[in-house]
Amino acid sequence: MSEVILEVNNLKKYFPIHQGFLRRKVGDVKAVDDVSLFIKEGETLGIVGESGCGKSTLGRTLLRLYEATDGEVYYKGKNVLNAHKDEMKELRREMQIVFQDPYSSLNPRMTVSRIVGESLVEHELFHKGKELDDYVVDIITKCGLAKYHLNRYPHEFSGGQRQRIGIARALALNPSFIVADEPVSALDVSIQSQVINLLTDLQRDLNLSYMFISHDLGVVRYISHRVGVMYLGSMVELAGKNALFDSPKHPYTQALLSAIPKPDPTVKRDRIILEGDIPSPANPPLGCKFHTRCMYAKDICKEEIPEFKNLGGDHFVACHFAK
Ligand SMILES: Nc1ncnc2c1ncn2[C@@H]1O[C@H](COP(=O)(O)OP(=O)(O)OP(=O)(O)O)[C@@H](O)[C@H]1O
Ligand SMILES: [Mg+2]
Repeated sequence: MSEVILEVNNLKKYFPIHQGFLRRKVGDVKAVDDVSLFIKEGETLGIVGESGCGKSTLGRTLLRLYEATDGEVYYKGKNVLNAHKDEMKELRREMQIVFQDPYSSLNPRMTVSRIVGESLVEHELFHKGKELDDYVVDIITKCGLAKYHLNRYPHEFSGGQRQRIGIARALALNPSFIVADEPVSALDVSIQSQVINLLTDLQRDLNLSYMFISHDLGVVRYISHRVGVMYLGSMVELAGKNALFDSPKHPYTQALLSAIPKPDPTVKRDRIILEGDIPSPANPPLGCKFHTRCMYAKDICKEEIPEFKNLGGDHFVACHFAK
């Protein structure tokens, strides 16, 4: 596959915790803690992990919807986190987001025409009028909607159609990279595959790159080329889809995957049950964050943060004992 389009180095996003009458800062929620990754042109990187592990924060911080605490993000070689206003405006055109909830992310008082066309007017690419309408019709048609939908409001659509509106809005400025944050989780299973297929068709036709965030391992396996697994704000494993699903190296990935039912019931795989609760991201364990729940943990795991190392073939694992 082709060139690296997005590069993230040691990205951190901490949310301060304030307490008491004076609202003094007493600590940080380490939502994203030293994450590095890259995404190539035309590729989908899936991001999985349990609720609260930092998936959405990662997606939003690299788009600069949240101001990063530390680290670097390069998009087509441009430094995103240091970009000035004009550069950022251009980067915002190229990097878009599709949200989980097509109900709350669309303004109920705006028609489809305005929802999809708004950013084009803001970026001064079009004035309101027929030319803009024609352009919007072209985009919504690509997303499986029709011209007669143009002057309707979000409440007049089904969940799946609303997500198509959300995708059309993201596509309006002709971006090349989209963060899709649980784009099908709020939809009925029967509708999910239609929206997934729309995303893959658009990727093929427009050469889009995706970061696809989901806690649904089946969906991620279907859509992704490579997959990253997060635990407590850290990336613990990142590899090609088949390498990750067929030979996971990190004990956390192994446990996570052991929970997926096998399509072939004659193939036995023991379910790994993790002991204990997920620790708080405000007070994560020292050393390897997973050591409190890892059945292989040794002394070194309590003391030293494991390096996120490449085992070969771009299979990255953060575990002292991974080979
Ligand atoms: N705006 C915020 N202010 C303070 N803390 C936040 C904020 N957003 C997220 N967090 C905290 O950061 C951590 C990561 O949250 P995040 O929403 O990124 O997780 P997630 O993996 O997307 O979870 P889910 O699967 O439930 O969507 C959580 O502990 C969360 O409570
Ligand atoms: Mg989330």
